[in-house]
Amino acid sequence: MLTPHGGILQDLIERDFPKKAAFIEESATLKSINLTDRQLCDLELILNGGFSPLTGFNTKADYESICDNMRLASGQIWSIPITLDVSEETAKSFSEGERIVLRDPRDDAPLAIITVADVYKPNKQEEAKKVFRGDPEHPAIRYLLDTAGDYYIGGELDAISLPKHYDYTEFRKTPAQLRSEFQSRHWNKVVAFQTRNPMHRAHRELTVRAAKDKLANLLIHPVVGLTKPGDIDHHTRVKVYQEIIKKYPNGMARLSLLPLAMRMAGDREAVWHAIIRKNYGATHFIVGRDHAGPGSNSKGVDFYGPYDAQTLVEKFASELEIEVVPFRMVTYLPDEERYSPIDLVPAGTKTCSISGTELRKRLRDGTEIPEWFSYPEVVKILRTAHPPRPAQGFALYLSGLPFSGVHALSYALQATFNQFQAGRHITLIDDSNLNKESLPFVVSELVRSGAGVIIAPATDILDAAQYSTLKKSVSKAGSFITVSIDTKLDVCKANDRSGFFSTEAGEKAVSIYQTIEDAELSADLTEHYSINVAIQKIVLYLEDQGFFKF
Ligand code: ADX
Ligand code: MG
Repeated sequence: MLTPHGGILQDLIERDFPKKAAFIEESATLKSINLTDRQLCDLELILNGGFSPLTGFNTKADYESICDNMRLASGQIWSIPITLDVSEETAKSFSEGERIVLRDPRDDAPLAIITVADVYKPNKQEEAKKVFRGDPEHPAIRYLLDTAGDYYIGGELDAISLPKHYDYTEFRKTPAQLRSEFQSRHWNKVVAFQTRNPMHRAHRELTVRAAKDKLANLLIHPVVGLTKPGDIDHHTRVKVYQEIIKKYPNGMARLSLLPLAMRMAGDREAVWHAIIRKNYGATHFIVGRDHAGPGSNSKGVDFYGPYDAQTLVEKFASELEIEVVPFRMVTYLPDEERYSPIDLVPAGTKTCSISGTELRKRLRDGTEIPEWFSYPEVVKILRTAHPPRPAQGFALYLSGLPFSGVHALSYALQATFNQFQAGRHITLIDDSNLNKESLPFVVSELVRSGAGVIIAPATDILDAAQYSTLKKSVSKAGSFITVSIDTKLDVCKANDRSGFFSTEAGEKAVSIYQTIEDAELSADLTEHYSINVAIQKIVLYLEDQGFFKF
């Protein structure tokens, strides 16, 4: 087995265990920092030795050296800054030499004490350019500029406890635990596989190929900390990994989960990943196509070249010590019913692949996902997490003036949907239960859990900003469909027997009402019978979109 990066495993939990009680007592007397999700992930890997040789958050000297040279100030390779970012106000309240307790905000537990070595203001533009190549659409640059605090605190840590997890605890092994396990199993060679996606047959073939080439065992080491926004959630993925692990020859592969916060930094990230896997006891590390790449920006330009990561890890090969196992794109050869890296395929051979986008489309439409691509057990898990249209929720927003017929149409729709829809819950949100503050959250959650939601503000209508917040929020959870009710104002006034339009609320409603130009559907409810026409239109639209199957 290789020694950890820098020579020894910096297992701070183990190291500080005798002093733990004293640190807990001391922490009650100190100022606190509540850690962000990303800082919690970083802290866990500093404390458990996954980030050896780091024993704290980067000081200014280390940070600048990492940005400029991919090395710590000591000269050791380290490619990603590990910084404790705070607001200016927090930064100004701390002084050098002070001890501050770092807490898990979810349960207020003290996790570590930092001794402040320095408080500094980073040049974020430089960091963005040097570490993440400068494209403002890069997810790590977005995080750096929009979310991260403007000051960093450097300093060594005294460990109290790892953040507590309640899910998949049996699969969350520390570097010390995996190292001792490999030793007791006599796994002298271990190939580690990094992933943030569900695993399919291509990934199983690629890892088995690596194990065979190197006569090694396999560590399937997926990231369950933070990955790229929009990735498949780790609960779904871990269920997939638990199925995939059964597809390896008995005793060949081990599954363990890594609480890493990825930066999606392509080549620099691959170097970092290799160091981390060396610390976890691996001797080999797979770097395939587009390793840790965030894909392409809104203009379709790739953030990284497909093999940039291989080039950089190979450049540092002798210093990294862990042996990189590079792969060109692995693809399916239908005529031979097998997988192969593309560079080993003779020109003219037929190949097949299904992209992530294509897979999501097939899940949404409920169309076939072939057995050559994935295992039925894996597809079943993905289909449960990503049900096809007939099982998905939707929000139907009825936009119209007061007394335009919104109210009557909403009740008619609820009855119609319930009449032919079994299984999908239909919720009607109208003036009697509509809370504008919580509306985006509540509708999003309902849609996410598969309900059909009719939103029908009859008199207390939403203004343009409220509508756009609602639409944006719900669209992240599922489908948002707007029906514009175009009944003219004089007809609405004629419908109003209560004198609503001459009240202050009535005047306000008229002044904020705007026709929604890009509504999916429209209806004019001037005539009494027109409600049935509107229902027809809406039902046929939903059927066409796949929400109802008759
Ligand atoms: S990553 O962000 O964690 O790198 P992903 O989970 O997609 O993303 O990939 C995990 C690892 O498998 C990476 O090393 C990647 O390069 C490699 N990989 C994934 N799919 C293929 C493929 N079809 N061919 C070659 N390598 C692949
Ligand atoms: Mg990928």
